[in-house]
Amino acid sequence: MRVLVTGGAGFIGSHTVLALAAAGHDPVIADNFSNSKPSVLPRIEELAGRPVTLHEVDLTDTAATDALFAAGGFDAVIHFAGFKAVGESVAKPALYYRNNIDSTLSVLDAMVKHGVSRFVFSSSATVYGEKAPVPYREDWEFLEATNPYGQTKVMIERILTDVAAVNEGWKVALLRYFNPVGAHASGRIGEDPNGIPNNLMPFVSQVAVGRRDRLTVFGDDYPTSDGTGERDYIHVVDLAAGHVAALDHLDAMATPARAFNLGTGTGTSVLQIVRAFEAASGRPIPYDVGPRRAGDLPTSYADATRAREELGWTAKLSIEDMCADSWRWQSNNPEGFPS
Ligand code: UD1
Repeated sequence: MRVLVTGGAGFIGSHTVLALAAAGHDPVIADNFSNSKPSVLPRIEELAGRPVTLHEVDLTDTAATDALFAAGGFDAVIHFAGFKAVGESVAKPALYYRNNIDSTLSVLDAMVKHGVSRFVFSSSATVYGEKAPVPYREDWEFLEATNPYGQTKVMIERILTDVAAVNEGWKVALLRYFNPVGAHASGRIGEDPNGIPNNLMPFVSQVAVGRRDRLTVFGDDYPTSDGTGERDYIHVVDLAAGHVAALDHLDAMATPARAFNLGTGTGTSVLQIVRAFEAASGRPIPYDVGPRRAGDLPTSYADATRAREELGWTAKLSIEDMCADSWRWQSNNPEGFPS
């Protein structure tokens, strides 16, 4: 399939472009580099062993999006593009709603107009909110998020479900990611956050490489194995494979829209990550224990049954693989992608 990958220059997008190419699909990237750099493209092409087309386009621009589809000949869309910083979304909610919803709507309009009916969406486990029981199951109905970023995921899932229901032949997979980490085993592409990382793994790897002094562990009095927060970390290469599995499954899906958790089904604590990263890197990760971060849950992990049974997909890579690959990327590219 010829697949438009929006946000394909980003962390998960770039790994998914490689997985698509390796599976014999033809990925085409649309990105406006709002949180990525053009220098990722030659590295994607080097790893794919073939040229990959990238269109620099802002998807909130409906005319530009329409033109992209008019010339594209796409069979499917994988939609990663969107703002994703939780704290920034609290400070600038309208920016987040405008960008994430508008871009999705212009893609949907263009798909209807140009007869593209396969869609894979980059959703998040954040849609389970604070009340869903752990492990999270896709049939939990009361989706809600604790911040505007997460709310855009809830709203877009709703929009996609409604649009798929009334457009003949539409198939939409809503992929709810747990905590994507790691990097391509080559060390050539990986996560390159702007500024101070919000998320644990990039922060830890920046401490290991000497870009930051020490980690603050956000609370050690949770009701977990060692008191620190537990999350379902998933290797980005496994996650990318999950997108290919979802894409290949779309035509066989019994309902127009369906949600799938992409996680391992296992929780790992902050301190377990610290120790695993120290082992992988051979560097110490000094840390202090600070207060809990507002909005954090003690434990979050997936019930990964549905993806296994229906997509034939399971995560294969371990916490050790995630840390080793993150470290290879970080140590080979201490400042991330070249500007
Ligand atoms: C966060 C977002 C979530 C988003 C996801 C994307 C919040 C509250 N949630 O999830 O909406 O979908 O990223 O991957 O921001 N930790 C530390 N010190 C740090 C950073 C993190 O101790 O410097 C701890 C956290 O308290 C948590 C764990 O590490 O227990 C993982 O945190 P993080 O990587 O930010 O992911 P989430 O909070 O699960």
